[in-house]
Amino acid sequence: MQNQDKQKVIETGTSKVAARFPFTVFLEQGIEYYYCTCGLGSTQPFCDGQCEGTGFEPVKIIPKRSGNALLCGCKRQCDPKNPNCDGSHSVVNLDW
Ligand code: FES
Repeated sequence: MQNQDKQKVIETGTSKVAARFPFTVFLEQGIEYYYCTCGLGSTQPFCDGQCEGTGFEPVKIIPKRSGNALLCGCKRQCDPKNPNCDGSHSVVNLDW
């Protein structure tokens, strides 16, 4: 299934919907995190390298302060470089 999903991401150029909701995660100030943009990663919402060869790359996050964050799970947020949930999961087609 993972290989089929990866092939679909490559063929369509569209990320996979990892979840139909945002992920609530605790981020620590000054720590580097890599947010998954392809939707294939098994460590959502973070990159685990499954994006290799897909044309997608993770987005680096370095929080300015520690705290909870709502990171996009649908991968359809308006600004793909901004991993924060913008509510797109409630208004866009999430078939894929
Ligand atoms: S696994 Fe999705 S961006 Fe790396």
